[in-house]
Amino acid sequence: MKPKQIVLLASGSGSNVENIATYFERDPNITIAAVLTNKRDAKVLDRCNRLKINALYFNRQAFSESSCVLNILKSLEPDLIILAGFLWKIPQNLVDAFPKQIINIHPALLPNYGGKGMYGINVHKAVKANKDDETGITIHFVNQNYDEGAIIHQTKTIVLPEDSVEQIAKKVHELEYQHFPRVIEKLLTK
Ligand code: GAR
Repeated sequence: MKPKQIVLLASGSGSNVENIATYFERDPNITIAAVLTNKRDAKVLDRCNRLKINALYFNRQAFSESSCVLNILKSLEPDLIILAGFLWKIPQNLVDAFPKQIINIHPALLPNYGGKGMYGINVHKAVKANKDDETGITIHFVNQNYDEGAIIHQTKTIVLPEDSVEQIAKKVHELEYQHFPRVIEKLLTK
């Protein structure tokens, strides 16, 4: 059987990309076709070099003002496109070309703390400022609006009053590392 192909989009550190790559390293049925980034100096590129994963940088024009990224994605024939810390809104042409094939991870319990500007540490700061006693992760399908597609998976963690923003971030990242690869695996093998 032909292995399932995944493509990851990331804008920053890429610790989720590395975790997913490690998880599927010895799985002959799932391969990473490429990692695409919109940040020329993103740390994810160093990780891809070290892990020997094909990686590619693209700019705004290639992404949303032309069909460049769309055509690259089509040529990779992905079974799943995975946003792992990717911070640009997905343009309509991509949403239309890959229905129910693009998923995102969000570091909060959507619909809480979603939308433009709500990413990474900003989310955890808001959770802390509101004195929430829980937070978590949401994995969802991507549509044309930020953080609004159908939810696939959510997991919660407790926030203690004494937790710092960094500690909240750490708890959420741990949930991401634990659950994201398994959810991807499930989507690809059902
Ligand atoms: C992750 O926590 C992910 O949930 C978040 O960015 C972080 C990327 O970390 N995504 C968003 O906030 C999307 N709105 P990483 O680069 O170390 O994987």
